[in-house]
Amino acid sequence: MSITVEPVKPHIGGIVRVSHDHLLDDETIETVRRELETRGVLVFPQIAVSDQLQLAFTDRLGERVNFTRQVPGSDADTADVYKITLDRKLNSEPDYVLGTFFWHIDGITIDQPLPKATVLSARKLSDSGGATEFANLYAAWDLLPEEDKREYENLRVIHCVEAAVRPVHGHPSEERRARYKAMAAVMEQPLVWTHEDGRKSLLLGTHADGIVGMPGAHGRALLARLQQWAAQPDFVYTHKWQPGDLVIWNNQGLMHRVVPYTDEGRVMHRTTIAGTEKPGVPANAANVESIYQVA
Ligand code: OGA
Ligand code: MN
Repeated sequence: MSITVEPVKPHIGGIVRVSHDHLLDDETIETVRRELETRGVLVFPQIAVSDQLQLAFTDRLGERVNFTRQVPGSDADTADVYKITLDRKLNSEPDYVLGTFFWHIDGITIDQPLPKATVLSARKLSDSGGATEFANLYAAWDLLPEEDKREYENLRVIHCVEAAVRPVHGHPSEERRARYKAMAAVMEQPLVWTHEDGRKSLLLGTHADGIVGMPGAHGRALLARLQQWAAQPDFVYTHKWQPGDLVIWNNQGLMHRVVPYTDEGRVMHRTTIAGTEKPGVPANAANVESIYQVA
């Protein structure tokens, strides 16, 4: 056995022990695929990968997501490695990085299959803040009372970038709103996603702006309550980073956020693995309109 996985909490988290030399082995890749389904988030303590090794690991797990090419902060030589940092010299638009302070699912406002997994490696840590929290949205669905499940099963939710960055900008300028429109879609997602393997998870996050056909306040209140439910300590793993840590998470079944930091020295390198399942569709105008009705 060149790889072992030690659970962190009953509902979430796994610590992976594997050496550099075995990171790309079939056994490692199979184990990671399996454990991403059960543990949700896997930590490779201080494995200290290069960009090349991180990309090779990403490629072994599936297709790279090309949205990393459209976001600011990637270099020409490693265009698929996105720099998560507030340092403007490395990332020309840190505003989107500030959006990571709030619960979210990566890529949920893009009209493409939901990214399967995200890989993040710590290059430079911040002096304070900067831990990353992960909440298991499979567990959040599974443990809901049956009567709530029946009530929520068929609800549809509007997700948009504008909602995702509202806590960053408040009222964005017209120019900024036009940019959001160009970079992403307004998506309609099921509240409860039945995956191809039959498992179900909630789709939640700050980008969720309302429930189709429900007056705005009612929809947002329910989303806020569900988000709070899903973020209860039993469903959450908090990763306190050490230099060289690599973390991979199941982006289809977890939401995540980072504890706020101001240190421009913090640098994480992110790669993303494409999914094959697409739970959402671009929202139609009437459904979008419905979530902005007051009563
Ligand atoms: C991200 C993200 C969290 C972090 O890159 O998508 O959410 O800890 N990052 O920087
Ligand atoms: Mn993210």
